Amino acid sequence: MTKVLVTGGAGYIGSHACKALAGAGYQPVTFDNLSTGWRDAVQFGPFEQGDLCDADRISEVVEKHKPAAIMHFASLAEVGESMQDPARYWRTNVNGSLNLLQAAVDNGVPNFIFSSTCATYGDHDGVLLDENTPQRPINAYGASKLAIEQMVQNFAERFGFAYTIFRYFNVAGADESGRIGEFHNPETHLIPLAIQAATGKRPTLTIFGRDYPTPDGTCVRDYVHVNDLVDAHVAGLEYLEGGQPSAIFNLGSGDGFSVQQVVDVVANVTGNNTPAKEGPRRPGDCAKLVSGSTRAHQVLGWTPTRSTMEQMVRDAMRWHAGKGYSA
Ligand code: UFG
Repeated sequence: MTKVLVTGGAGYIGSHACKALAGAGYQPVTFDNLSTGWRDAVQFGPFEQGDLCDADRISEVVEKHKPAAIMHFASLAEVGESMQDPARYWRTNVNGSLNLLQAAVDNGVPNFIFSSTCATYGDHDGVLLDENTPQRPINAYGASKLAIEQMVQNFAERFGFAYTIFRYFNVAGADESGRIGEFHNPETHLIPLAIQAATGKRPTLTIFGRDYPTPDGTCVRDYVHVNDLVDAHVAGLEYLEGGQPSAIFNLGSGDGFSVQQVVDVVANVTGNNTPAKEGPRRPGDCAKLVSGSTRAHQVLGWTPTRSTMEQMVRDAMRWHAGKGYSA
């Protein structure tokens, strides 16, 4: 079986990618330090514990498995936290990716798929974002991802591997099986927090800012179902394996939802009120991040099929009603 090394494979998106890869006939090899990932989420292939900041360890794992491709999900990925501790974001995300790229070129890995983010674009007065929109990140998380995008491109040019860079919008939902899902401790993301508030697992949700230049004053994001997102990764891998040129793709549904609209959908789906109070803006947040791109559809044939807000909330609720992970 063709091996794919999945960094961050024990995390939320990485574990769903491993399932999709296994379903498409690949063997996903998870590399994860379990700092935010879960051993129980590694269900679809071998596990190698390690930290990308340990250059010898990642080099040893790449040499051992000689993967046909690397999918690089492992990252610190919280906007708010990145503004509190930018040094940690730069150190971890950039150094870890540098070690991984070095191990990839040392071992001749031909294809590299990198998880980037719409946070690299920054604020653009509400316009829809496509892959040519200038990148002007306003938080340390987005800035660290932009630096890695450039690193991937520099290495690819010098060493001749092919890459896809996927710029994610806001990923939500969970696998329909209920076996894997989003599980952060502490949780910081809107949809799980709103579900917890609506189902009595936390007293209230704080809405970060009502004075943004958006129709209801709350931030607008583009939410995409995690299984739609990982389908694009498998399509991206097949595209590279078919000898197609390196490329960059936005991955979003193209629909903008405000924080207030998300709260309202969660209330409708749960049948409960979502207790919410108003708080100050969270540093580093853009007013609106919505994809206006159809490149992934045109080039990869990717069409999100599960990314309605109702379905994402329903799938997330089913997962959160279960036991989650214990290890
Ligand atoms: N929000 C609240 N209250 C909360 C939590 C979030 O109002 O308690 C708001 C945020 O201010 C933001 C929106 O809900 O406007 C979404 O916030 P999330 O924390 O769920 O997601 P982010 O947009 O900050 O970031 C996520 C991922 C990033 C990714 C980004 C792309 O964490 O890795 O989506 O936009 F890059």
